[in-house]
Amino acid sequence: MPTFAKRVADFGTSIFAEINDYASNYDTVNLGQGRPDFDGPREMLEAASEAILSGKANQYAPDLGILALRQQVVNHAKQYYDLDIDVDKGIVVTSGASEGLFTAIQGAADIGDEIILIEPFFDLYLPAATMGGMKPVFVPMYPPSWTFDPDELRAAFNKKTRAIVINNPHNPIGRAYTMEELTLIADLCKEFDVTVISDEVYEHLTYDGAKHIPIATLPDMFERTLTVSSAAKTFSATGWKVGWVTGHPDLITGVWRVHQNVTFAVNHPGQWGIAKAFTLGDSYYDGVNEMYLGKRQIVLDGLVNAGIKVTYTPNGAFYMMGDFSDVYDGNDREFAHWLIREHGVTCIPPSAFFSESHKHITSKHARFSYCMIDETLHKAADRLARLKNG
Ligand SMILES: Cc1ncc(COP(=O)(O)O)c(C=O)c1O
Repeated sequence: MPTFAKRVADFGTSIFAEINDYASNYDTVNLGQGRPDFDGPREMLEAASEAILSGKANQYAPDLGILALRQQVVNHAKQYYDLDIDVDKGIVVTSGASEGLFTAIQGAADIGDEIILIEPFFDLYLPAATMGGMKPVFVPMYPPSWTFDPDELRAAFNKKTRAIVINNPHNPIGRAYTMEELTLIADLCKEFDVTVISDEVYEHLTYDGAKHIPIATLPDMFERTLTVSSAAKTFSATGWKVGWVTGHPDLITGVWRVHQNVTFAVNHPGQWGIAKAFTLGDSYYDGVNEMYLGKRQIVLDGLVNAGIKVTYTPNGAFYMMGDFSDVYDGNDREFAHWLIREHGVTCIPPSAFFSESHKHITSKHARFSYCMIDETLHKAADRLARLKNG
């Protein structure tokens, strides 16, 4: 009997599939996935509809992505970060950041190379690295401030290190990296000649004065950084799977070579919609940030009221880590199942985003998303309030 490849033998079921499957047996309010339960801007929806109905986008898109979208991404990088991206050789439109990350990792490092993953990490970084035959090296961030130890980071670099993956602003921590942290990462990458793959899908979601700093903007970093982003979170369009990778043409060539053999072309009508969404500019981004500030407060109040400690108030993305040790005696996976079963609220156990030896760091935490309509968040907060009374 044929069997599947050993390469995928350890992958198992993703934590999202596991939790959603369990939750489907109960009446729950879902604060699990980073999947808004509302639509993005009307102009974007109309542009994608028009692209379908006019017949201009019902066949394969160009492999690099449509020029209108590439041009918008390039303009955006110039306007917000003063980065000069080559519209023909410095960008590949991908099937969401997910494909962007996969192709960037495959295109940047070889079999046997070491790749540093900062924990917690978005779950697909690890399989993307191991599928490419790379050796992952883990550097954890620790509560309550959720930062890494500079000495541990330094110790992870050596002459076999080829790449590092960072996520800024960070899921699940909800934190924008500081200039100090980015400078340390950049200095080590320059010293050891390492490529950075920077996942910046939450680039427009920062609060309380925190500013998103792309690592590609640090001195001499553009030529060693692949920046991955997506329309999913900024424009509430997770279903469209439109993302992109930008960088120096020498690195982008590697990404494109993988891309043309994986998806080779991406959701065509969606690209027209996202190109339109980019034209909305500051007023749209400001509105989204204000909206998420309100949502953050509802979940923060709900968790605190329930006796779940939030030691770090997130200044980025739309996730919050709560320490449940005062209300539940068990690990994070058991807590997530119990919360679904007994209280009808879904959250994600963050130990899934750590390597085996570091899972204990977060065994008393749960990740809550706040990308839902206020009514959903209030309903979750009401249900969580019952926790306090046992
Ligand atoms: C950090 C991070 N990177 C990438 C993705 C995937 O992005 P996309 O939906 O564009 O594939 C997500 C989705 O939750 C994410 O949180």
